[in-house]
Amino acid sequence: MQFSYKNPTLIEFGQGKIEKISSLISTDKKVLVLYGGGSIKKNGVYEQVKQSLKNHIWFEFGGVEPNPTKETLNKAIEFGKQNDVDYILAVGGGSVIDGAKYVANAFYYDGDGWDILEGKYTPSKALEIGVILTLAATGSESNTGSVITKNETKEKRFFHSPFSYPKFAILDPDVLKSLDERQLVNGVVDAFVHTCEQYITSKHGLLAQDGYSEGILRGLVHLAHTFEQRDDLWYANLMWLANQALNGLIGLGVPQDWATHYIGHELSGLYGIDHARTLAIVQPNLLTLLVDEKKDKLLQMGKNVFDMDTIEPLEVVEKIRNLYKSLNIDLKISSYTNDDKVIEKVTTLLEKHGFTNFGDKGSIDKTVVVKILEKSI
Ligand code: NZQ
Ligand code: ZN
Repeated sequence: MQFSYKNPTLIEFGQGKIEKISSLISTDKKVLVLYGGGSIKKNGVYEQVKQSLKNHIWFEFGGVEPNPTKETLNKAIEFGKQNDVDYILAVGGGSVIDGAKYVANAFYYDGDGWDILEGKYTPSKALEIGVILTLAATGSESNTGSVITKNETKEKRFFHSPFSYPKFAILDPDVLKSLDERQLVNGVVDAFVHTCEQYITSKHGLLAQDGYSEGILRGLVHLAHTFEQRDDLWYANLMWLANQALNGLIGLGVPQDWATHYIGHELSGLYGIDHARTLAIVQPNLLTLLVDEKKDKLLQMGKNVFDMDTIEPLEVVEKIRNLYKSLNIDLKISSYTNDDKVIEKVTTLLEKHGFTNFGDKGSIDKTVVVKILEKSI
């Protein structure tokens, strides 16, 4: 077992915590509040932010899209530069937070921030970021990941930067109550697949990582089963489970896969399908094809997560598929697009992005991707 671990993001969890930003951001900072399509103006979050920033100088930039684009974010950078800001407050879900990370890391760069995504520019300084989380799913509020789309080419790519750890993240579960069922389902599924990406690999015997992953998966299955009876605790549990699934902890020192995500990102980039839905489409078919190499962990998951008594790993895959179906997710790409060139386009982009032999054992090549997509169409 070998790893280095530090997660520096301060988490303020609980109802009524948004007011904390007044003390968490120093008043000598000029703040750029970044948000999405306006949900925060309907559910009272914007008012709380405004109230809490009354002693700060601040500006706002709205309109960051789900699957945020570099085209929009470059405008946010320009706006921030014009106003000489030195702090970004992201108020939103994964898209706004990822967008804030892009803005922060590209802020002091004279070229196009997309160069970061292509590995042509590595930031050496960045703006500081604070977060008010409004959608529990990605874990972006306390990790270094950021996934950005280039509209012009329909490419969706990710980058990590040490500057992307937010200084703080405020997690008030009450804020989740204005989410529609589609987004709540997305949250459960994204967190579930994040955990699977770090768990359904090979047997490694790292007990804390396996046990904690299984706890998170059991929790998410419980939330799926009690979806119709959501109470305060349900929302709080979702918010914390989703955070724990991708704040770095369960992945320490263990093999990781992420192939479902890489394929899913191309589907979101090309067709704008919700991130979590691309995962629900791809993952059961990927697991079916790789069932031999993932057999041990699937059986362990069957026993420890689903309380199954089986020696047939495909039954565990079916259990996962049925979980997604129980949340009313359409598991076919053809329900989202009628493009007949899906396979060609996805495989071309994966190759362009360097994903030629991927998955935790490097066994997913173009032939396997084609088979996964044929099953998913
Ligand atoms: O834009 P607004 O009007 O705010 O509406 C949003 C958006 O339409 C709405 N919403 C958010 N909070 C709300 C709300 N509506 C009502 N009440 C609230 N409290 O929800 C919609 C979706 O928001 P979005 O931020 O796109 O969702 P999510 O948090 O699922 O983020 C998805 C993005 O994160 C990336 C995905 O690829 C995708 O681009 N990911 C980021 C990761 C990371 N940084 O670590 C990891 C993930 O695997 C993922 O790839
Ligand atoms: Zn994800």
